[in-house]
Amino acid sequence: MNTHDTQLDPRMHPQQAVYGVIGNPVAHSLSPLIHEQFALQAQQSVHYGKLYADLGQFVKTVDTFFNRGGQGLNVTVPFKLEAFQICQKLTERAKAAGVVNILWQENGQYVGDNSDGVGLVRDIEKHPFQITGKRVLMIGAGGAVQGVILPFMEKKPNQIMITNRTLAKAQAIVDRFLPQAQAFGIQLSAIALDQIMHLQEGYSIIINGTSSGLQGSSPLVFSQAQHLQHVMQRGEIGLTYDMVYGKETDFMQQMSACGFQVKDGLGMLVEQAAEAFEVWRKLPRGSLDTGTVLQMLRKPVV
Ligand code: ATR
Repeated sequence: MNTHDTQLDPRMHPQQAVYGVIGNPVAHSLSPLIHEQFALQAQQSVHYGKLYADLGQFVKTVDTFFNRGGQGLNVTVPFKLEAFQICQKLTERAKAAGVVNILWQENGQYVGDNSDGVGLVRDIEKHPFQITGKRVLMIGAGGAVQGVILPFMEKKPNQIMITNRTLAKAQAIVDRFLPQAQAFGIQLSAIALDQIMHLQEGYSIIINGTSSGLQGSSPLVFSQAQHLQHVMQRGEIGLTYDMVYGKETDFMQQMSACGFQVKDGLGMLVEQAAEAFEVWRKLPRGSLDTGTVLQMLRKPVV
């Protein structure tokens, strides 16, 4: 596989079903490696490559890919909202997320799905760490957090608190998902990030869904991280999760120093990819072995 090629063209692979990941940037993507393993596992003749789109050229690039015989695309930053907008059909979980990371065509119409939330939830449960009955703190209120709220609620945590620098955005997510939260019996609320020193109860799952890791910073100052540890129940070890992968973020370092378990988003990447492969190839859910693929990605390169 040429890992530098970001100009995926289905016409170059006439004997295979062609899929890919579209993004900007996209050269760093691990998705081709992951899908190559899934294709081997499922013994399917699939080619999966990288597709770079200029900003403002997303729709044109997608149209060209499908017109040339491409069968499906994973969508990554910054195009997940645009992907949502071009779809004539959306799955329920894509509608809830408001963003799309799996795209394909049916009868010439774009269909969109979202497996990010399911990927995150599965990775946490395989850790293993139970979500049901737990108190969850989500940091951030952008597309990444909105995309995972519903699958999280389906696991019936006791409480989800959303905290964000801009409180109004956290409150908007709460307002939107309140009916489902009530139906599941989950306490769903919002607090401004600069108010979290006032939280009196601990959260055993803390998710960083902000884009701060990409900017090389943490959404928390150290005293806030310490406070979140301080209010944990005695003896309880919380899990903190950063959706970013490929590096130990400042957030992960902070939380680890405060005594939390920490996890990066690599497992979420593999789980959401498995779900995409299973959707496209109509395989039973959970039939792919994600564990060995994750192990392979974590192995240091020698
Ligand atoms: P994404 O689709 O990746 O979620 P987004 O919609 O731009 O991206 O949202 C980015 C999120 O990260 C927002 O919640 C943002 O906070 P604001 O809504 O207040 O802007 C949050 N964020 C980004 N940088 C941050 C930082 N340095 N500290 C805290 N929050 C940050």
